[in-house]
Formats: sequence, C-alpha cells, structure tokens
Amino acid sequence: MERKDFLRSLGAGAAFALTFPCVNGCSKDAEDGGDREIPSGVDFTVDLASSKAAALANNGGFIEVASNVSMNGLTDIVVARNLAGNLVAASLICSHQGYAEVEFVERDGGIFECNVHGSRFGQDGTPLNQVDSNPAKALKVFSTELNGETLRVFE
Ligand code: FES
Repeated sequence: MERKDFLRSLGAGAAFALTFPCVNGCSKDAEDGGDREIPSGVDFTVDLASSKAAALANNGGFIEVASNVSMNGLTDIVVARNLAGNLVAASLICSHQGYAEVEFVERDGGIFECNVHGSRFGQDGTPLNQVDSNPAKALKVFSTELNGETLRVFE
C-alpha cells in the first residue's frame, strides 16, 4: 500500500493526529533539545561587571550560562537576581522533560518557570505545580557566593 493510500485509509482525523501530535500539548519541537542532562559538579564564577551579566543588575533579571566548557557552549544554568536583590542559581534544564527552558519570572514573589509545559518551581527548587500525570520533581538549585564583582555558583 502506498503512503497516500495508507493515509487515506486512516481518514483525515487520524492523518492529522499522526502529522501534528503536539498541536495542544507541545510548544517545542524535538529538535529544540529535550532530555538534556541535569548539570552536576557545578563550580564556576560569573563576572558581574561583564556585559554578559548586565541583566543581573536589576531585581528580576536573569542570565543563562554554561557551567562547564565541556558543554560545548551549551547553557545549562540560570542565574537570577531575585526580587529581594539576592543572587540565586538553578538548573536551566527542566526536571520534567529535560528542556533547557527554565527562566526566572517575577510572578508569585519570584519563581523559576519552564516555558515548555509550564512547570513552576520555588527558588529552593520545590515543584509548585504538576504537569502531565507525572509526580513533580524538584528543580536542582545551586549555592551562590559573592566576592566583590565575582559570583561563585557551586553545589
Ligand atoms: S520540560 Fe516540560 S515543563 Fe519543562
């Protein structure tokens, strides 16, 4: 049976379901990179005086950084200045399906949120909601230590 005959035999509804599986559930394509590894062995510094860290000058600002040169430049950590002015850091890689899409948002006093399926986490990594029917998993967070203009992010 040829492909077009096969699709015709399924009917238009089934063909649509095969072709567009993520119409309502997914905001990202597979090529955007789910299933990324949660960062481990993290210990690096950020120069707060650098232009790359400019967003951290303001409460609610955040940047995405690569914790390790072996990541080939792939970012895996989100560093934010929370609404109280403290610097906090968490995995950019979401605990739900491993997309590198965690951001700091000012809602609810400042939380981490993944914009792929909407997982939200407290600043200590505690899951605040549940997506799909999976048990919510904590977001990995990291310690921070400020020395002048140098921020150390570590675990
Ligand atoms: S990957 Fe699903 S909410 Fe982040």
